[in-house]
Amino acid sequence: MVKIAPSILAADFLNLQKAVDIVNNNADIFHIDVMDGSFVPNISFGFPVVEAIASVAKKPIDVHLMIVNPEKYALKFAAVPGVGMVSFHLEACSNPVQLLDAIRATGVMAGLTINPDVPVENLFPYLDHCDHIMIMSVYAGYGGQKFIEDSYGRIECLKAELQRRGLNIPIEIDGGVNKENARRIVEAGADILVAGSFVFRSEDPKAAIEAIR
Ligand code: DX5
Ligand code: ZN
Repeated sequence: MVKIAPSILAADFLNLQKAVDIVNNNADIFHIDVMDGSFVPNISFGFPVVEAIASVAKKPIDVHLMIVNPEKYALKFAAVPGVGMVSFHLEACSNPVQLLDAIRATGVMAGLTINPDVPVENLFPYLDHCDHIMIMSVYAGYGGQKFIEDSYGRIECLKAELQRRGLNIPIEIDGGVNKENARRIVEAGADILVAGSFVFRSEDPKAAIEAIR
C-alpha cells in the first residue's frame, strides 16, 4: 500500500505541534527537508527542529538531506531516535557506497536521491546499497513547485531496473504531488509519496492526505 509522507517544510512553523498531530494521526512518515544554502539556494532547518519533532513523532522520520558533504552530518541525523530513513543526493557525495553502508549499519534506512536533470541510470550502480530511492519531481530547494511530467517515465525506468534485478526496495517521489497526479505516480511504480503544500496549505490536511491516498 502507498505511504504518504507530508513534508514539514510546508507546515506552519508557529504551530508545529499541529503539523505533527496531522502526520501522527493521518499519514505514515514525517518528511523533513534539511537545506544548507550551498547544495540548494535555500536554508531550512537542522538538528533542533528534527529532534523536537522526533520527540513527539509516532511515525518514522525521513530526513532528506539537501546539503553538500552529506557524509559530515548523515550519521548524526541517523542517530536521532525516531529517525527511520536518511537520504542524500548523489550529486553531493563523492563516495555514495560508503555513506549508504554507514547509514545502513546504524539500522536506519539509507536512501539515495537525484534531481530531475540527473539521468536515472546514474543510480543503478548503487541500488544494492539502498533501502529506498527517491526521485525528485521538482528541483530540490523549495516547496510549492510544479510536478515535472518527465518524472513518470523516470519512476518507470527505475522500477523496471529494480524488478530486473529482483530488488524489492521502495521508490519515493518528492515534489509537486497532489490529488491530480498521485494515481499516475503510483501506477508508474512509486511506493512513498511526499507532499508538502498540498497537505499543509490545504484547508483540511486530513482530507488532502486521504485524497492522495
Ligand atoms: C523540495 C523538498 C520537498 C518539498 C515538497 O526541495 O525536498 O520535500 O518540501 O513540497 P511540495 O509538495 O510543496 O512540492
Ligand atoms: Zn524533500
